[in-house]
Amino acid sequence: MSNDGVNAGRRRFLVAATSVVGAAGAVGAAVPFVGSWFPSAKAKAAGAPVKVNIAKVEAGQQMVAEWRGQPVFIVRRTEEILGNLKKITGDLSDPESKASVQPAYVDPEVRSIKPEILILVGLCTHLGCSPTFRPEVAPADLGPKWVGGYFCPCHGSHYDLAGRVYKSQPAPLNLPVPPHSYESDEIIVIGVDQENA
Ligand code: FES
Repeated sequence: MSNDGVNAGRRRFLVAATSVVGAAGAVGAAVPFVGSWFPSAKAKAAGAPVKVNIAKVEAGQQMVAEWRGQPVFIVRRTEEILGNLKKITGDLSDPESKASVQPAYVDPEVRSIKPEILILVGLCTHLGCSPTFRPEVAPADLGPKWVGGYFCPCHGSHYDLAGRVYKSQPAPLNLPVPPHSYESDEIIVIGVDQENA
């Protein structure tokens, strides 16, 4: 493994995290009391829950939030994406997430509370790089069988768009699903479990 690769992955996360902080600031400026939804930097470092407004995440797109100093990927999945998840289970290492980290209240295969909204901790389960969102189908560099997923730039692990790792990859487990809940259709609280879990 090369340290350069790991550092490159961390740099990419820092750039992504910075851009999300910028986006949160823009929302706060438009709606003054939105700022009170976001805890202080000190509280965040200590692990406070983070509220995220997902209203602007379009179908097939991802936003990156930050929780406990980690990137959190939030994807609005389409019917096509959800359909493709069922076609590839034979190629996956842990398709029902029996060995992987996720709350009991998420569906074990689509790995979410609502099928269309995917929420993952964006750190590779191999050595912790931040995987790249690659939602395209059959791009030239990932081959004709690629149906959209995450590609880890450090040592090449492949995950699907439920964060499930493919067989024979350096990464041993699926990307973790963090504890989370819905305050409304648009507001997700990362770090607080769904009621009646
Ligand atoms: S950190 Fe090694 S494959 Fe992701």
